[in-house]
Amino acid sequence: MAAFFVYTYAMPVTPLNIVILAAGKGTRMHSSLPKVLHPLAGTPMLTHVITTAKALKPSKLCVVYGFGGDLVVQTIADDSIIWAMQQEQKGTGHAVQQAALHLEQESITLVLFGDVPLIRVDTCERVLNEAEKNVLTLLTLNMTDPTGYGRILRNSNGAIVGIVEQKDATEKQRQISEVNTGIMAIPTRQLMAWLQRLKADNAQGEYYLTDIVAMAVADGVAVTSVAAVDSAEVFGVNSKKDLATLERAYQKQIAEQLLAQGVTLADPARIDVRGTLNCGQDVAIDVNCVFEGTVKLGNNVQVGTNSVIRNTCIGDDTKIAPFSHIDDAEIGQDCRIGPYARIRPGTRLSAKTHIGNFVEIKNSDVGFNSKINHLSYVGDSTVGKDVNIGAGTITCNYDGVNKHRTIIEDGAFIGSDTQLVAPVTVGKDATIAAGSTITKNAPAGELSLSRGKQVTIKGWKRPSKKG
Ligand code: UD1
Ligand code: CA
Repeated sequence: MAAFFVYTYAMPVTPLNIVILAAGKGTRMHSSLPKVLHPLAGTPMLTHVITTAKALKPSKLCVVYGFGGDLVVQTIADDSIIWAMQQEQKGTGHAVQQAALHLEQESITLVLFGDVPLIRVDTCERVLNEAEKNVLTLLTLNMTDPTGYGRILRNSNGAIVGIVEQKDATEKQRQISEVNTGIMAIPTRQLMAWLQRLKADNAQGEYYLTDIVAMAVADGVAVTSVAAVDSAEVFGVNSKKDLATLERAYQKQIAEQLLAQGVTLADPARIDVRGTLNCGQDVAIDVNCVFEGTVKLGNNVQVGTNSVIRNTCIGDDTKIAPFSHIDDAEIGQDCRIGPYARIRPGTRLSAKTHIGNFVEIKNSDVGFNSKINHLSYVGDSTVGKDVNIGAGTITCNYDGVNKHRTIIEDGAFIGSDTQLVAPVTVGKDATIAAGSTITKNAPAGELSLSRGKQVTIKGWKRPSKKG
């Protein structure tokens, strides 16, 4: 059969340039950290916006920064971003002017705000679809309490004629409930011309980007609006109270998504996901658990109250008992962890391992069906399968200068209160007697012990109190 190719001719799409405004100081945060670097769900607000912007595949992504200067650039550390410095914060229009020389004339410019972190990709796409028709497109929202926002002015036919800022608005204009979210898409060629005509003759003495709307109307360029999906996606953070409010709104959304997927949450208001949480079927999460980075929970995993789990993959049927801390680890199927277990980076636990209370494991592999149930430290170790490590066992992995490995082979039994001074190997099926300090390799299949013999001093008396 002859092979042939079918070319589907895509509609010509105007290149997209995105400008993120992030120069504001954020005075009301009362912090030395620039506002846009304050974390929402564990990630700087600006990073949320950049992630959304990148999903839209812009040909240019420009961030206008100012307050906190280098710290913003260093923290974000992304070479694909064009950074435009705004020395003095003279308004949103002035901020976009700083980006103008980086923009392509024949493009659409989408303006996003660094302090409006939850803007959705699909909402931006709806705005851009309108802007494709060569119209200035505003993202607006009807609010029950529009105080503080710019209001959308419409004529008697319902057509947009301008935006008035809260501080410049008349009493009557302040009654308008449709607000400017600040997010807009503009044909770049026209934007350039309008930016040059901005004046700072307003209540705040600033160059308002919003003034371009009236200019567009005067120039006969169509202006339209797209409605935001919810208030959280256009909520701007100006204070710690705002940040806390938005954090809760975001966590609520995540909890609802998890519930919709069938995850059992003891209380949807008491879970925090700071990153990505992937769950299998029939996962149950008790109250006050925190998940950071990328966490994957297999089928039937149970997580006990007050556990903190970060960058970890947990196998099917594993139960994490309360107050366990797990960081950068891989945990196999059908394991029992905690309560009060601390599993540190570089740990890999095979299936059916048991790690009990007050046990710390670091950078170690633990084999199938092995048990470390009480009060132990196992670091830089390779533990085989079917090993039992008694209470209070410690691997002495650090000589004050270097770290050394401990190897415990399959079937070994380590008695309680043993110190294993690394580098050291305990052979297959070896037994270590309780209370031993093991500094030499313990041979396979044998009993090794190192402790003083028990003696009894006959007739010894406790001292009595001196009269
Ligand atoms: C702006 C809009 C208002 C809208 C509101 C939505 C203007 C004039 N007003 O008001 O209509 O309802 O957002 O939240 O656009 N920024 C700079 N450089 C500056 C000034 C601001 O980068 O010189 C950045 C800020 O860091 C922030 C964003 O622009 O990310 C918005 O600035 P902000 O001062 O908060 O504007 P609003 O007064 O809230
Ligand atoms: Ca604002």
